[in-house]
Amino acid sequence: MGIDVIWINPIYQSPNDDNGYDISDFYDIMDDFGTMADFDELLKEVHDRGMKIILDLVINHTSDEHEWFLESRSSKDNHYRDFYIWQPGKPDGSPVNNWESFFGGSVWEYDEQTGEYYMHIFSKKQPDLNWENPRVGKRLYEMTNWWLEKGIDGFRVDAITHIKKKKGYPDLPNPKNRTFVPSNSGHANQPGIDAFLSEFVERTIKNYDVMTVGEAGGAKFEEARHWIGEEDGYFNMIFQFDHLGLWKAKDGELNMDELKKAMTKWQKGLEGQGWNALFIENHDQPRSVSTWGEDNAFRKTSAKAFATFYFFMQGTPFIYQGQEIGMTNVRFDSIETYNDTGLINLYEHETKNGMSYEEMMSYIWKNGRDNARTPMQWSSAPQAGFTTGTPWFGVNPNYPDINVEEAVKDPDSILNYYKKMIKLRKHTPALIYGSYELIAEAHPHVFAYLRLYKNVRYAVIVNLFNAATEIRLSDDLEIEELLLSNYSLIDELNPSMQLGPYEARVYRLANS
Ligand code: GLC
Repeated sequence: MGIDVIWINPIYQSPNDDNGYDISDFYDIMDDFGTMADFDELLKEVHDRGMKIILDLVINHTSDEHEWFLESRSSKDNHYRDFYIWQPGKPDGSPVNNWESFFGGSVWEYDEQTGEYYMHIFSKKQPDLNWENPRVGKRLYEMTNWWLEKGIDGFRVDAITHIKKKKGYPDLPNPKNRTFVPSNSGHANQPGIDAFLSEFVERTIKNYDVMTVGEAGGAKFEEARHWIGEEDGYFNMIFQFDHLGLWKAKDGELNMDELKKAMTKWQKGLEGQGWNALFIENHDQPRSVSTWGEDNAFRKTSAKAFATFYFFMQGTPFIYQGQEIGMTNVRFDSIETYNDTGLINLYEHETKNGMSYEEMMSYIWKNGRDNARTPMQWSSAPQAGFTTGTPWFGVNPNYPDINVEEAVKDPDSILNYYKKMIKLRKHTPALIYGSYELIAEAHPHVFAYLRLYKNVRYAVIVNLFNAATEIRLSDDLEIEELLLSNYSLIDELNPSMQLGPYEARVYRLANS
């Protein structure tokens, strides 16, 4: 494809309760994925090709099967007891507070053995580490440096905004009188997190020439500089989620106004200060073509439109596996066939609270993380060519039509379009370094922006809707050359343009 860096989701030893984000041994590879020797070979082969590998670094929590936790839960006076967050319940025996886990239910799990609760903001098999205990940090730095010494090229740092919890674990306001309330305000980006982050960075990644991207849910834009400032930010980039909730948020329609605001805020705001991580998909989100675009007759065109929209902004574009061939959401009939621990917990809690099976399944089909986790579709062979055995999770039944083999052959495929985009970006300094300027701000269907570098200018113009439209460029923007398009027939170059459904174009403009 022409990519430079591969980010691999966690492949550490793990009971795999949460897609590998529940690590039982940081220093070993999960049996399903092979051995450390396999990893070393992968690293070498990737480096030999001039590419790089970054790994997930999961340091907010471990698996409940990690030896630290096994020790920790064994008795109250164990050396590892304070590696995790233990608290007695309320006098009536109920959980410590009303904080809700991201995966439904309480963040507290009662443990018979010592009669106390431990905190888990994700699944109960993912106990949160206690960063207040300096010995925890020490062990995590050691481990991080061990991987860096091995020669990996950096990390995507998981759930990093959650490592500091609100002191005393107070109940959170509960106006609707629910059993548990969403608890970000108890553990996302809490005052005091900076001391943890500074020390972590100082003792680990700062001493290596590596690339880092923090998963920073809850990080405020106003504080972005501090997270990713060129001079002394903690990471090189962060994944922020301002744009994700806007996917067809308003009456089932994409909220263009909000989307333009969200993207532009980060584009303009970080300019000269820090670097954006650009993405429209990951392993936690439904497929973009099904959510933002359309996975029917317009699958190819809409996938390319949304690709064009984010790919040429300022920052580093990330592509999630399968996005490059336009893999779609999936509809499995029964909850039993699903794998995501978050979904399954949510299902249990919501059906207990009265949600019907039908309502719950349609929620899962639309929003579930498993939409993006079906095996990669390589070919039209059984199991999409992913394996000759039984895959760990169901294959999307549309694999005979949507697969890599097919996409490689088809000059018009989404895959070949991605290749063109990558090449264009790599060979065009303005599309990498150029500043960003939103144009046609009030257009209800077209997302359009300029990239400006020295006196060179490019325009990216994308109709994000399934209806033809028109856009008029201002007179000072003179088109010189069409560089990329997801349509084969383009009307002549003039400042007033008709755009078909989901039509996307990238132009070089005359110098300013
Ligand atoms: C991050 C990961 C997600 C995981 C969670 C807990 O949000 O992206 O997949 O479930 O952290 O580790």
